[in-house]
Amino acid sequence: MINNMKQLTVDLGGRSYPIYIGTQLLTQVNLLTQHIKSKQVLVVTNTTIAPLYLQSFLENLSTYQLESIILPDGEQYKTLAYVENIFTHLLTAKFNRNATLIALGGGVIGDMGGFAAACYQRGINFIQVPTTLLAQVDSSVGGKTGVNHILGKNMIGAFYQPQAVIADISVLKTLDDRQLAAGIAEIIKYGLIRDYEFFEWLEVNIELLVQKDEQSLAFAIERSCLNKAAVVAEDEHESGIRAILNLGHTFGHAIETGVGYGKYLHGEAVAIGTCLAADLSRRLGYLNDADVARIIAIFKRVNLPVLSPKNLTVNRYIELMLVDKKNIEGIIRLIVLEKIGKAMLPISVEMSILEQTLNDYQGR
Ligand code: NAD
Ligand code: GLY
Repeated sequence: MINNMKQLTVDLGGRSYPIYIGTQLLTQVNLLTQHIKSKQVLVVTNTTIAPLYLQSFLENLSTYQLESIILPDGEQYKTLAYVENIFTHLLTAKFNRNATLIALGGGVIGDMGGFAAACYQRGINFIQVPTTLLAQVDSSVGGKTGVNHILGKNMIGAFYQPQAVIADISVLKTLDDRQLAAGIAEIIKYGLIRDYEFFEWLEVNIELLVQKDEQSLAFAIERSCLNKAAVVAEDEHESGIRAILNLGHTFGHAIETGVGYGKYLHGEAVAIGTCLAADLSRRLGYLNDADVARIIAIFKRVNLPVLSPKNLTVNRYIELMLVDKKNIEGIIRLIVLEKIGKAMLPISVEMSILEQTLNDYQGR
């Protein structure tokens, strides 16, 4: 049981917002209502989260003109078509531009809800209530919203910051082990890209996260959000340093698109991608063999995959990696590690070296 709620700030001048982290936060109604601007509130969630949390969530908001929309659950539904359903709901309820949209769910609901809030009447009030570990440490913070396209992951979207992020650790009790591990993949990322001390803490304590020890989860969520908030405050629209948050993601997105959305969890694809990025960093002379072994070992301890899907050929991988937002003029640019705890800005990598990495990490 954590007694103290932590409050962090994403510092973006006039658009700064708080991240609240703690247990039983969903029962603290004022935390949420202080960020609601008018009577009209739409809660966006999905078919898995609704039976667990929606009813009590709505009861807390009974004084509002309240609507909810329950979307199908899955990465494969993170599409424009389902965002259009949100627009239809908002229009049918005659919601105006002072309305508030609350995303109650994991990264899929947060990304779609945020994108709908960014577009509806050119922008309405938006609150993130992340319910997966991945969403609490990453996707709910920083304002990246959007949907997938059949030809590329997260290719349609907008930067749109929420008014607040409410990360209630208590809801993680119902999250299954595979989803929890996917969130831990993004936590490991922060240690690798800019926080060596945190990486060392994870090497000692990672099993406590797997066991859902609340103190450890609270610490890891706070530390992850501190890292993310610092990067976002420095480079909100990813013209520079924010790209390091994408360590392993170019490989990961290629896996997600290549094998079909939903087959690999986002965090699983990121785990594989990070091992590939580590191997590439070694080939380029930054990391040594022991560093790469340390990185692979920590992912394995949480049962995350470290090898690419068998059926994703090197040619197909490269074709998919060519559709990435970091690329410039058709050249693949990747994040590599200068050392554990320090990522470099995107660099272009010789195709032959990239192919060696892709070949060596092919699942058998
Ligand atoms: P997700 O949203 O699909 O949630 C994972 C699963 O857990 C779903 O089945 C969901 O219904 C279920 N779930 C959610 N909360 C639960 C709870 N408390 N108890 C039980 N089950 C629960 O996946 P995710 O891992 O949260 O997010 C992945 C998505 O986030 C991807 O689409 C990825 O692209 C995106 N993402 C976005 C950013 C960003 O900056 N915007 C960053 C990282 C990832
Ligand atoms: N998840 C990467 C970013 O927010 O920039």
